[in-house]
Amino acid sequence: MKPPITVPLESLIEEPYASIVCYPRTNPTEIQKRIEELRQHGVSAVEFVGKTNVSNIPVLGKGYVGVVVVAYMKGQKVALKMRRIDADRLDFNHEAEMMQKANAIGVGPKFIAVSNNFLFSQLIDGDLLEDWLETQRDKTLIRKVLVNILEQCWSLDEAGLDHGELSKAPKHLIVDKENRTFIVDFETASIVRKVINVTSVCQFLFMGNSRATKMLGEVFGVKQKSELIAALKNFKKNTNRKNFEGLLEMCL
Ligand SMILES: Nc1ncnc2c1ncn2[C@@H]1O[C@H](COP(=O)(O)OP(=O)(O)O)[C@@H](O)[C@H]1O
Ligand SMILES: [Mg+2]
Repeated sequence: MKPPITVPLESLIEEPYASIVCYPRTNPTEIQKRIEELRQHGVSAVEFVGKTNVSNIPVLGKGYVGVVVVAYMKGQKVALKMRRIDADRLDFNHEAEMMQKANAIGVGPKFIAVSNNFLFSQLIDGDLLEDWLETQRDKTLIRKVLVNILEQCWSLDEAGLDHGELSKAPKHLIVDKENRTFIVDFETASIVRKVINVTSVCQFLFMGNSRATKMLGEVFGVKQKSELIAALKNFKKNTNRKNFEGLLEMCL
């Protein structure tokens, strides 16, 4: 991993930083506006660090909506999601609202603040689930972490909050240094859509083409696809705690 680069607020006007704050390409008005917006949140500096690279500069992550970096906000280190210039969203209001609903049931990084182009949340210092799995040998710990992910999905289902991108779970499940798990990115979450958090994450974990499926197959044994499909179907039809626990039992 590249060494972290700390850039004071004022210096974000310089390249290559300006074009990361205003990804994929900056312009003089936009960067000025964004620096001012960050100042109003009490941001003093941004730290470029992480396993993802943008223009050869390390960041925590990048998706279609935002680039995520570390920010120093009123003396605290926080996660800062910066809206891409080319994002098909005009602001972070919906994501902030969904994140707070998730927080209310103990899911997701804690919401801190929001404005048009920025969303601040609790900084999760960890690895994406699949990278984490690669470093683990302890079956009991792996089971505990996975049960925890599935329990969080169950809570979201129960609360009627559909995450929406748990089939793309590799980028949305983080395990921190204390082996706590966090579901991130509530950008496409919905309280209107039918909830499919548990089934989506099960499909990704146990019957996808993912690295996770391969690694979990090695740890817990490869699952019979037809059996899993039947169990998931049954869970969908009769969603209750007993069938959820049956699913856990079968998968892990
Ligand atoms: N609070 C956070 N702490 C640490 N890393 C995060 C946090 N939020 C997001 N990330 C990282 O940044 C990546 C991109 O964030 P995400 O919200 O998924 O953006 P997008 O909506 O553009 O997909 C995530 O996949 C994750 O690796
Ligand atoms: Mg994402």
